[in-house]
Amino acid sequence: MKQRELGNTGLMLKAIGLGAMPLSISGRPDETQAFAVIEAFVADGGNFIDTANVYCLDDDDIGHNERLIRRALDSLGANGRVMVATKGGLRRPGGAWVVDGDPGWLRQSCENSLRALQTDCIGLYQLHAVDPKVDFRRSLEALVKLQEEGKVRYLGLSNVSPAQLEQALDFTVIASVQNRCNLFDQQDFHNGLIDFCQARRITYIPYSPVGGHHGHLRLGQEPLPQQLATRYQCSPYRVALAWLLHKGRHILPIPGASKVASIRDSLRATELKLNAEDIAVIDRLAGQ
Ligand SMILES: NC(=O)c1ccc[n+]([C@@H]2O[C@H](COP(=O)([O-])OP(=O)(O)OC[C@H]3O[C@@H](n4cnc5c(N)ncnc54)[C@H](OP(=O)(O)O)[C@@H]3O)[C@@H](O)[C@H]2O)c1
Repeated sequence: MKQRELGNTGLMLKAIGLGAMPLSISGRPDETQAFAVIEAFVADGGNFIDTANVYCLDDDDIGHNERLIRRALDSLGANGRVMVATKGGLRRPGGAWVVDGDPGWLRQSCENSLRALQTDCIGLYQLHAVDPKVDFRRSLEALVKLQEEGKVRYLGLSNVSPAQLEQALDFTVIASVQNRCNLFDQQDFHNGLIDFCQARRITYIPYSPVGGHHGHLRLGQEPLPQQLATRYQCSPYRVALAWLLHKGRHILPIPGASKVASIRDSLRATELKLNAEDIAVIDRLAGQ
């Protein structure tokens, strides 16, 4: 329950990562609070942080989240102990989220991320989304080139279908897939993607694992997660994360947090043991 291997790299990570997006998008906390969230995560044993160049307010603010994480880890002396995974392939014009998988933009984004993170090599670089306007192979080629140049250690994908993952695997090694997945949104369990990742030793990283930036409030309203939380004397958030952890040893959820209490609570999901009946009941929740 407690550790996850990244792909088949031999690199072991704590089974719950930190999704750092809420620290940098609209409604973000002040820097003192943001640093406190990262500090609490590291103090409680966290060693995998998910970010992206576009976790920011708009195109003028690109790299906000990466710079923040770097400064926080520097101040904690924790840079070598934490893997920071970032992404390229989106833009934020006027604060919108726009896909751009053009090879030139991917290279520019990666180079900007290297500067923002103040590193020579990004541990895990993820294609944020497949751009329907660009041949997928051209986006992949750009990423492989960055890897060959030593700018990126491992490659990951995000927001992909099973067919797109298979296409990418014909081309290169993929260490991780990051898709939306939570107890209300179980598509990747039904379309075979999560099983396929397990068979191919690819880490599956559920994003929005407690329901999403706004959707997480639904957890407090649904009777079932509440009932289980009462039985196990924990929060419904922990139940939601423990359910994901029970679904496979290759699953590494990245709950977001803008408050210290949230990430402290989420990390404790690794201690919660659900029984087979609980898991089966949650499995059926998405269809209701
Ligand atoms: N690849 C992609 O396209 C993509 C898309 C979306 C997200 N992501 C990644 O996935 C991460 C997580 O997704 P998300 O932030 O959208 O949604 P989420 O993790 O489902 O929900 C985040 C919100 O839930 C609250 N929360 C989480 N755990 C909690 C707990 N134990 N107790 C109380 N509240 C809790 C937090 O509230 P507070 O803010 O009050 O602490 C947080 O802001 C992001 O940060 C980002 O790194 C990736």
